[in-house]
Amino acid sequence: MKNKTQALKDSFNRRIDYLRVSITDKCNLKCIYCAPGSRPEYFRRGDVLTYEEIVRFVRIARGHGLRKVRITGGEPLLRRNIASLISSLKETGIGDLSLTTNGILLPEIAGRLRDAGLDRVNISLDTLQADRYRSITKGGDIRLVHASIDSAEAAGLSPVKINVVPIRGINDDEIVSFASLTFQKDFHVRFIEFMPASCNGMWSKEKCVTSSEVLKQIRGLGDLELFEFRGRGPSRNYRLKGALGIIGIISPVSDHFCGHCNRLRLTADGKIRPCLFSAEEIDIRTPMRTGVSDKEIDVLFRQAIRIKPQQHLLQEDGDAGRHLKTMSKIGG
Ligand code: GTP
Ligand code: 5AD
Repeated sequence: MKNKTQALKDSFNRRIDYLRVSITDKCNLKCIYCAPGSRPEYFRRGDVLTYEEIVRFVRIARGHGLRKVRITGGEPLLRRNIASLISSLKETGIGDLSLTTNGILLPEIAGRLRDAGLDRVNISLDTLQADRYRSITKGGDIRLVHASIDSAEAAGLSPVKINVVPIRGINDDEIVSFASLTFQKDFHVRFIEFMPASCNGMWSKEKCVTSSEVLKQIRGLGDLELFEFRGRGPSRNYRLKGALGIIGIISPVSDHFCGHCNRLRLTADGKIRPCLFSAEEIDIRTPMRTGVSDKEIDVLFRQAIRIKPQQHLLQEDGDAGRHLKTMSKIGG
């Protein structure tokens, strides 16, 4: 089902055609920079959107040219019967349907997700060392992540993208090893600047390894060519001469990509969040559960686009993420 409708523009002339849908705020890892503190407060089960509600919202947004949906968490694979959500979302006609995961549960279901209509996966992996992985994630088994990367490749969930957040003193000595993976595999290895969220008080400007530092290290491996890749993602892409894979540089802190931001978020408890760093959200769960029509939900969707801010203020104000208690609740 193709839909040629042009996506809606926001107040700053940006076309909004990408929705990130968080389907749970729970995660099976407790990464030191992402997970909630010692007393996490999760959404109550009844407050989390059902698959029917999510699909209804996506169908309405699809009517306005939504082109791309990414399922996030917490860890989205913790939700039961996720293949059924994927097939229902694909039936709405979404062209690019992807999922961000830590990979732990992927090996057993990668093939089923592909069959259901999932196009690709982004896998979070911050170290290549088993002991360090256990310590960053508080107990995770890196062998499962390796298996998940293999399973994604085998299932054709490609390109397989690997998300690395380099943090000074934690894993910044592995930037070159991660970049070197692209010589052997056609992965996209993406280095994401560590963004401030008030999570565990872990963030500081010094801990954020900037994209220019990352690039400087990688240049030691060979010539870097700029590489155009389809889509309008936040990533600037490069290829090392002779490599199979791509290196992506995502710089929300040192050089934000707000000028061409094309996305909205839907939280697991049914709020539209116009920007990752928005304090303002628009509730769609309550109206949906009081029986409003699609037309009324459509009005809320347009309103969220209208109030999308011009940019976040991370460069000017390192404290701009203070109201983000945990990144894991929002899905990065
Ligand atoms: P594709 O490029 O389509 O694969 O997706 P993506 O890069 O948007 O998805 P992914 O979930 O892998 O995002 C990579 C990281 O970029 C996220 O984990 C966030 O940390 C960051 N990011 C994504 N969207 C935004 C955004 O709107 N604002 C900011 N500041 N950071 C974002
Ligand atoms: N800064 C940058 N990226 C983050 N993520 C989680 N927290 C942060 C942060 N503070 C990333 C994870 C994962 C994605 C969902 O979000 O590493 O790849």
